[in-house]
Parts: sequence; C-alpha cells; structure tokens
Amino acid sequence: MRIAIIGAGNIGSALLGGILKGGVAAPDDVVATVATQEHAEELARSYPVRVMAGNNLAAAEFANVIILAVKPKVIPTVLEEIRWALREDRILISLAAAFPIAEIETQLGRRMPIFRAMPNTPVIVEEGATCISSNEVATPQQRAVVEAIFRAVGVVCHIEEDLMHAATALSGSGPAYVYMVIEALIAGGLKMGLSHEVSTRLSEQTVLGAAKLVRQTMLHPAILKDQVITPGGVTISAVHELERHGLRAMLISAIETATRHSRHLSDKLIEKLRKDA
Ligand SMILES: NC(=O)c1ccc[n+]([C@@H]2O[C@H](COP(=O)([O-])OP(=O)(O)OC[C@H]3O[C@@H](n4cnc5c(N)ncnc54)[C@H](OP(=O)(O)O)[C@@H]3O)[C@@H](O)[C@H]2O)c1
Repeated sequence: MRIAIIGAGNIGSALLGGILKGGVAAPDDVVATVATQEHAEELARSYPVRVMAGNNLAAAEFANVIILAVKPKVIPTVLEEIRWALREDRILISLAAAFPIAEIETQLGRRMPIFRAMPNTPVIVEEGATCISSNEVATPQQRAVVEAIFRAVGVVCHIEEDLMHAATALSGSGPAYVYMVIEALIAGGLKMGLSHEVSTRLSEQTVLGAAKLVRQTMLHPAILKDQVITPGGVTISAVHELERHGLRAMLISAIETATRHSRHLSDKLIEKLRKDA
C-alpha cells in the first residue's frame, strides 16, 4: 500500500504516526504534504517519510490511497490540483468535516472509491474513534484497507454517511466534553483540598479506568454505576447532585445541538460550492 497524506496537520500527522507505528505501510511508501516549507521541514525531522510543501499532484500520483486531511474549505482547490491522479483503482479518503462524498464526486466529475472518515484527536495516542462511510463504488476489500489504516490509531465504526453529523457531534467533538469533565473533577478535588498533582492524576485515571471497564466488561454503564453505589453512601449523594443539575440531559442536548450545527454547516458549505461552481 502506498499512502499520500495531503495536509499533514494535527490529524494528518497523527495518522501518519499511527500508520508507521502500526506497520500499515513502510516509510518509503508514505508521502505527506503540507502548505508551508517550514512545516514540511519540521515534519521531515519527526517522521522518516518524504514530506513536501504543496506538490499535492506528485504525492497523489505516487499513492494508491490518498488521504485528504486539509481543512474543508481547501478541499475544492486540492481536488482540482490532484484530479488527474484520481482513478478508479485508487482510494480517496476525505477527513474533512461536513464535506459530503456526493460533493467530492461532483467536483471530480468521475466515479471512484471515495471514503469519508471522521477521526478524533486521541488518534495521536492511538486511542482514536473513527467513523467511516463510503460511496457505492467502494468494494469490501477497499473498505478493509481503509479500516486497517484507522485501526492503527484506535477503534473504527462503519456508518451510513447521513449519520456522520451525529458521529461528528459524539466522537469528533467528544474529547472536548470529556476534557471539561476531567477539568471539573480536578477543580472538585482542589476545592476539597487535594493537591494539583493528586487531583489531576486521580481525575484522568478515573475517566480512563471507567472507560476501560465499560469496554472490557461490555456491561451497560448504568450497571457499572450501580456497582459503585451503596445505600445511603457517598456516591449516591453525588449522583443525586449530578441528576439535580441534569448532567445526562445536558450531554444529550449537547450532542443533539452539535449534530444540528454540523448539518447546518454542511448545508452552508454545499450552498457555497454551488454558488462558486
Ligand atoms: N482536529 C480534529 O479533531 C478533527 C477531527 C475530525 C476531522 N477533522 C478534519 O481533518 C481536517 C484537518 O484538520 P486539522 O485539525 O488536522 O487541521 P490542521 O492542523 O490545520 O491541518 C491542516 C493541514 O493542511 C495543510 N494544508 C493547507 N493547505 C494545503 C494545501 N493546499 N496543500 C497541502 N497541505 C495543505 C496545512 O499545512 P501548514 O501547516 O503548512 O499550513 C496543515 O498542516 C479538517 O478537514 C477537519 O475537518 C479534524
């Protein structure tokens, strides 16, 4: 497999690290591009792959899997640049939020296997959550190739493209919500007199450990929560406070609002693309 990562910024370079570490492709078979020479040199110092500033067409011609990791507004320019390297026997993966596959197809004016992937920032530590969807041209073998790339940096779920807005709201943006929870737990510990260091360690490990327990036991979180509660005990007094302030309702509403906003942004983007066409 020869992979080109077009726009190796935050997510693109994290993916690059995972691809190399997971042995998905050898360093000689990976090429990355960024916009600026300065960033290209910095990346080349961190990863043993060919990095170029611009030169997207050469990168795409080299690869049979082309990953677009630029910002959504840059996608039309990049597609225009690399269109002659995009053939039916190659795989195109776009990470651009809110940019539908149908729009990529329209911009290209030709059919080829196109995937959309919505990873999240924990791909940096190989604990990402990535949702994937594809057009109907993609074969099961190509789906397996794309899954292998993202499995190198975490967990992969295949979903219908229409659900990408929900996935963006849940796992794409999700790390931000969890950081807010960790931040608040730390503050709670501090308020009750724990040191910064102890409070931070306890908070991060509690979230990590609880998540691991959900995965390993495959029990519903409500059951695991119940196991921590003793009648008339400490935990139930805190759970009552969280219920009183609507913790669960707040998170559900946050995901509902973010899903709606993602759809709105996508509609606006499509409108702009139609105007520019
Ligand atoms: N961050 C997230 O949590 C997240 C999650 C899911 C999906 N996404 C999607 O992933 C994409 C990238 O997001 P990001 O946060 O990684 O952004 P980012 O850090 O700004 O990375 C974008 C990269 O694109 C490069 N670039 C810009 N124009 C280019 C061009 N014409 N040719 C080649 N490279 C070019 C930039 O290079 P320079 O550094 O040299 O300017 C930069 O390194 C977005 O479409 C976003 O929707 C992000």
